[in-house]
Amino acid sequence: MRLSATLCFLASAASLSAAAPPEARSPDVTGSSLELSKRFDDATLTYYNVGLGACGQVDVASDYVVALDSAQWSGGAHCFQRINITANGKSAVATIVDDCADCSDTGLDLSTGLFQFFAPLSAGELQGTCNFV
Ligand SMILES: *[C@@H]1O[C@H](CO)[C@@H](O)[C@H](O)[C@H]1NC(C)=O
Repeated sequence: MRLSATLCFLASAASLSAAAPPEARSPDVTGSSLELSKRFDDATLTYYNVGLGACGQVDVASDYVVALDSAQWSGGAHCFQRINITANGKSAVATIVDDCADCSDTGLDLSTGLFQFFAPLSAGELQGTCNFV
């Protein structure tokens, strides 16, 4: 599990470092210069008690919000970006509001409300697929 998550992270790191020199970039690229990988499989989904997130917003358990693993956190560059999470045959779109220092690379920490959309909290953690929307 941890190995596949690390491989996913390596794939996303490679896409970051593979960036062409600035002058070779398409001039109409919009948004953050630090692009998250568009999709990662085998994301490890855990849950935590939300509150004041590192993005500066206060959230409650029923909000569909997530904390992004520190490897992809990029100093908060992805605050409030939306991420589509699929696990257990269900999908939900959540908002990135926090940094997850304890998460594995490509790990996501979910609000308890969001985690319970996918599975009971007693499941502890889930494997899922994510893509940024
Ligand atoms: C989320 O991902 C699932 C599985 O790939 C897909 O079926 C669904 O259409 C996606 N939803 C959004 C809003 O991107």
